[in-house]
Amino acid sequence: MNYKLIDMNIFGDDRGKLISLEGNSNVIPFDIKRVYYIYDTAPDQDRGMHAHKELEQVIVAIDGACQFILDDGKSREKIWLNTPEKGLYIGKNMWREMKHFSYGCKLMVLASTHYDENEYIRDYDTFLKEVND
Ligand code: TYD
Repeated sequence: MNYKLIDMNIFGDDRGKLISLEGNSNVIPFDIKRVYYIYDTAPDQDRGMHAHKELEQVIVAIDGACQFILDDGKSREKIWLNTPEKGLYIGKNMWREMKHFSYGCKLMVLASTHYDENEYIRDYDTFLKEVND
């Protein structure tokens, strides 16, 4: 499985907490080329349903929670992202589905490449062929 949960380095004191993310560090293992965020989601509306040929990402649930299904073509694992204190790294060739968004969930995504629809795999059978060949 080409994913891992990363523990963030937290600067906390009486005023609250701060987490800083820098590219090419042990927290973000790539140069950050793009940042996007997902919000205004609903529990019955799934997202994702694709893999990337090239893109690596770190996803942070800044607020709220959602479930990720991660699939490398051989097995499937489910994990919850429910704290801003962990980042979910997803590498290349991983099918992902996002489900069960809490109301008000906000996901921030750090990405290793600019947006390129051509490097998406949006069909599950095509994904299985690519990873198992
Ligand atoms: P999509 O990748 O389908 O979202 P999710 O993975 O959350 O299901 O993207 C939704 C739309 O936004 C789609 O039309 C492509 C567009 N988009 C961009 O233009 N730039 C981006 O950086 C991203 C991530 C998506």
